[in-house]
Amino acid sequence: MEDFLSQIDDAKLPEHVAVIMDGNGRWAKEKNKPRVFGHKNGVTSVREVSEACAELGVKFLTLYAFSTENWSRPKAEVTALMTLLVETVRRELKTLSKNKIRLHAIGNIEQLPKATQKALLKGIEETKDNDRMTLTLALNYSARWEIMNATQKIAQQVEQGLLKSADVTEAVFTSHLETHNMPDPALLIRTSGEMRISNYLLWQLAYTELYFSPVYWPDFRKNHLYEAIVNFQQRERRFGKTSDQLQA
Ligand code: FPP
Repeated sequence: MEDFLSQIDDAKLPEHVAVIMDGNGRWAKEKNKPRVFGHKNGVTSVREVSEACAELGVKFLTLYAFSTENWSRPKAEVTALMTLLVETVRRELKTLSKNKIRLHAIGNIEQLPKATQKALLKGIEETKDNDRMTLTLALNYSARWEIMNATQKIAQQVEQGLLKSADVTEAVFTSHLETHNMPDPALLIRTSGEMRISNYLLWQLAYTELYFSPVYWPDFRKNHLYEAIVNFQQRERRFGKTSDQLQA
């Protein structure tokens, strides 16, 4: 495979990369293994991509680890995923701190099993002063839930007379989202060849460059990430403007 690292322009790095880690189940099935085997091997890719992003200088990496819709999977798979999360967060804490990576989570965390919440909150607390990169896990996350939640919070403030409806600007709305402390993703990567957004960061992806990789998540390595970034850097982000306007 071509070496993509040497082609990356450090001055044009995406500040925020979001990832939909897809294909764990199919990867396992092709090997005649249970789906959970795919998730377990997916952790290696989580480590590779986190390390690669931190090394490059990406400031925010947001991984879709568990969607609200994932609760409808077989109970054993859900339990195994939760256990894997707890184990991984616990095991990787030292490495995160050594690499100055801050752990963060978005989603309906209060509705997660207690043990998952505990491991997560401990990880977030222990890494809160790290400033090299923020690694956010989207857990029990759904963009429609996030948007509904923000809308309700704003509506309450209007009801209480704390805010006028005319003052509900884009900035006010954004400040009520789970991602209020990070820039919108510049690049979204989805693995496994599926081309959907799947209720992920719907508001934030408005101008994001989308990149779909055919590689199943457990096979996704640093060079695949570099390839996505090189592809991203070849694109012209116009934000609704014309090409000529950007060059002026
Ligand atoms: C999608 O593959 C993957 C998930 C729903 C879970 C992702 C979780 C991990 C990689 C492990 C734990 C993560 C962290 C951050 C510690 P799929 O099961 O939908 O695959 P399929 O589409 O082939 O069935």
